[in-house]
Amino acid sequence: MQSRVLTLEEGKDPVRTNQSRVLPLRFLQVLLLFLGVGIAFSIFSMFLERYFRLQNVFPLIQSRIQPCFEERNTLERWVRPPSSLLHHMNDTELFWRASFVPLIKDYPFIRTPKMAFMFLTRGPLPLAPLWEKFFKGHEGLYSIYIHSLPSYDANFPPSSVFYQRQIPSQVAEWGRMSMCDAERRLLANALLDISNEWFVLLSEACIPLQNFGIVYRYVSRSRYSFIGAVDEPGPYGRGRYNSNMAPEVNISDWRKGSQWFEINRQLAVNIIEDSIYYPKFEDFCRPACYVDEHYFPTMLSIQSPHLLANRSLTWVDWSRGGAHPATFGKADITEQFFKRIFEGHTCTYNNQPLSVCYLFARKFAPSALEPLLEFAPKVFGF
Ligand SMILES: *[C@@H]1O[C@H](CO)[C@@H](O)[C@H](O)[C@H]1NC(C)=O
Ligand SMILES: *[C@@H]1O[C@H](CO)[C@@H](O)[C@H](O)[C@H]1NC(C)=O
Ligand SMILES: *[C@@H]1O[C@H](CO)[C@@H](O)[C@H](O)[C@H]1NC(C)=O
Repeated sequence: MQSRVLTLEEGKDPVRTNQSRVLPLRFLQVLLLFLGVGIAFSIFSMFLERYFRLQNVFPLIQSRIQPCFEERNTLERWVRPPSSLLHHMNDTELFWRASFVPLIKDYPFIRTPKMAFMFLTRGPLPLAPLWEKFFKGHEGLYSIYIHSLPSYDANFPPSSVFYQRQIPSQVAEWGRMSMCDAERRLLANALLDISNEWFVLLSEACIPLQNFGIVYRYVSRSRYSFIGAVDEPGPYGRGRYNSNMAPEVNISDWRKGSQWFEINRQLAVNIIEDSIYYPKFEDFCRPACYVDEHYFPTMLSIQSPHLLANRSLTWVDWSRGGAHPATFGKADITEQFFKRIFEGHTCTYNNQPLSVCYLFARKFAPSALEPLLEFAPKVFGF
C-alpha cells in the first residue's frame, strides 16, 4: 500500500511542472493520445468484465465474507473469555481496555460469576500440586492468572490448571511502585474476562485453608471486599505519610494493610482506572514508605469505605518479629500448627461475629508441600 501511494505521489509532481512548459499544440496532441488510450482501455475492460464476470465475482464475495465470519458481531465475542492470555497491549492500552464497564446492570445472558486467582510470583509455583487438588472439579467457577519474572519460562503440562495462564509480565520490586503495577496488570488481565467477579491476590508461598466450595461461598456472599486497611499511629503507619500528598490524601485518610487482597469487580476497575492517587503515591511514597502496603488500602478507603471489610483473608505470622513474616517448612506442619491457624479467631462477617476469618495462609516453603498434601483431606477438606 505504502509503495503504491509513494509512486502515485512521485508521478504527480513531474506532470504538473511539465504542463506549464510545453507548447499548447503539443499539449493537445498528448491529451488526444491519452484520450485514445483511455477509450481503448475502457472498451477492453468492458469486454473483460463481460466474459470473466463469474470468475471475478466469486473470489470477491469470498474474500468479503471471510473476515465477517472472524469478526462477527455477536454477543458471544464479549462474553467468551479471551482464548489466549497473550496479547500485545502495553500497560496504557491494557488498562484502557480493561476499564470498559457495562452501564446496564442486568446481563442479557446467563453469567456464572467466577473467582480470579491471581498469583504474583518470581517464577515457579512449588505448591502447585496442593492448588491443583483445591481447584479439581470446580471448572467454570474460577480462572487463574500468573505474573512472574519475564525471564521465567513456565512449563506446566497441558493437564495442569496453570497451563498457559501466564500474563505478559514485567520486573516487580517489593516496596516499589513496580509491585503495584504488577498487581494492576494482574487485575487488568483478569478484568478482560467479563465473568470474573472477585479477584484474589496470592503468592507462590500461599496455601488455601478451606475447600473451594467454602471459599467461593464465603467470598460471594460477603457484602464487603477483603483488604487490610487500618489507621495505624506510629512510625510504620502514619509516620510514612508525606504531607505533599494533600489534598488528595490527608493524614486522616492514610491506611496500612498487607497487599494480599480479595476485591470485587467494581473495586478492581477503580484500581486500574486511578489517575488521581497513583501519581501522589508514585512521587511521595518511596522506601521507607512501602507503597504496596498503603496505596490500595488508602485509595479504596477514600473512594469506597462502605465496601471494605478492612481485614485480609490471608493468615500470616508476624509473631517471630523482624521485617519478614515467618516461613513454615516441613517440620512446622503438625496438628498443633493447624490448631494455631484455625482456632481462637473472631472477626466480623456481614456485620456478624464469626470464627472463620481466614481462607488462605502464607508463607510456606517448598518442603511443606508433602505434609500439606497429607493433611489436606482432614484439615482443609479437599
Ligand atoms: C503504550 O503505547 C502507546 C501508543 O504507542 C503510548 O502512547 C503509551 O505511552 C505506551 N505506554 C507505555 C506504558 O509504554
Ligand atoms: C483533605 O483536606 C482538604 C482540606 O480540609 C479537603 O478539601 C479535602 O477534600 C480532603 N481530602 C480528602 C480525600 O478527604
Ligand atoms: C472499614 O473502614 C471504613 C473507614 O475507613 C468504614 O467506613 C467502614 O465501615 C469499615 N468497614 C466495616 C465493615 O466495618
